[in-house]
Amino acid sequence: MNDNAYLKCIDPSCGLEYPISSKNIECERGHLLDVKYKKTPSTDLKELFYARRNPQGSIFNESGVWRFRELINFCQIDTTNQEECSKYLVSLDGAEGRQSKPYQMSKVANFIGMNHDSLWLQPEGYNPSGSFKDNGMSTAITHAKMINARKIICASTGNTSAAAAMFTANENMECDVYIPAGQIAPGKLSQAYQFGAQIIQVQGNFDDALAKSLKDAKERDGYTVNSINPFRIEGQKTIPYRAIEYLNWQAPDWIVYPGGALGNISSCGKALMELYEWGWIKKIPRIAAINADGASTLYDLYNGSNLRWNKGKPDTEIIKQYYHDLDKKGIRPKTKATAIQIGRPANILKGLRSLELTNGVVEKVSDSEMLDGMSIVGLNGFDCEMASGATPAGIKKLIEKEIIKKDDVVVGILTGRQKDSSLPVDYHNNPANRFAIPPRD
Ligand code: F0G
Repeated sequence: MNDNAYLKCIDPSCGLEYPISSKNIECERGHLLDVKYKKTPSTDLKELFYARRNPQGSIFNESGVWRFRELINFCQIDTTNQEECSKYLVSLDGAEGRQSKPYQMSKVANFIGMNHDSLWLQPEGYNPSGSFKDNGMSTAITHAKMINARKIICASTGNTSAAAAMFTANENMECDVYIPAGQIAPGKLSQAYQFGAQIIQVQGNFDDALAKSLKDAKERDGYTVNSINPFRIEGQKTIPYRAIEYLNWQAPDWIVYPGGALGNISSCGKALMELYEWGWIKKIPRIAAINADGASTLYDLYNGSNLRWNKGKPDTEIIKQYYHDLDKKGIRPKTKATAIQIGRPANILKGLRSLELTNGVVEKVSDSEMLDGMSIVGLNGFDCEMASGATPAGIKKLIEKEIIKKDDVVVGILTGRQKDSSLPVDYHNNPANRFAIPPRD
């Protein structure tokens, strides 16, 4: 053990620091926290990571998360010591992130209007619980275990709860999941039940469920595993690691994600900045976040109100006023892509920071554009859910606007697997849909 890792407030004018064993998800002034590392990891590790693709009997080499353990070593263990890894690192037998790498999908490239060779799509739905959440859940539960937390709490639009429930079942921990009643896909809800979580149904939307879960976590000594937990972010950094490693550490021009609570773009921005500062990549890809039309807080604030991180001095009054206006007008987030039906993205400040650091952009797409995106991915033989369809749909829109150029190298993240079987069935039963193959008698 050493003292390389610690927690630090993201607000530069605050900068409060906490030991790595702290359970705080925010500083005492209410700002989000980052995991920080004092030492710069040597680029020689690139070879070690490559060698671990032959896992040589170690589940921690098999894992797409723990393969990069030197870059996320907040446990501060001897990462070469198998016994120590087994004692500290939580893993689903090495399966988290194991199946994840970028693919070229020619039909999607045609749909988008891009050069086939420069579009890469990385399905994260092939994780054990069926979404990208397993990347960050392995690290969050590792931290929970490290500090002896027993009661895991999260709010969810379905995928976080599935991942939390799966990991906690394996670790024999308690898990309470707060869900917006009637608003999550049945395939996701059933996973939380299946893995033994206690479901708490909240009358309201995800934002209400999150607020309630955070309050209860405080009052009942719970350990929150939503993406405001800085250790979730550490695990999710491995999503861009895998993509960039696959591209031989040549950074792409763009990395594109659907935007919900904004944990993804927060982790991607942190990963890219660290890699750049450590000299692992020579340029910083631009991040594009894609909102749903019906849940477009980031889009509205970034493009409509010109809200910026502003080097750590964002005008948070603009956010408060926006939420106040939504409440006053009774506007609730509304999209069939329930995974990203979120009005108050909890990581908005980290998200803005990522956009500033990477010269990022925000776009929004309609439900029908997301369904087309989901369907064309399917026609390439890959499985993704509707929210993930925002990625190809958003890239297409940004190409049409000439913000992304046709020969730019783009990595799009397909965040989750289809867990709402009614969506493709309904889509294909309606011949008016662009890629529909209606059934025949
Ligand atoms: N895609 C999928 C499939 C998701 O489940 C989520 C978020 C997102 C995208 C958005 O990612 O929050 O990092 O911007 N799902 C959360 C949940 C909120 O509870 O499962 P984000």
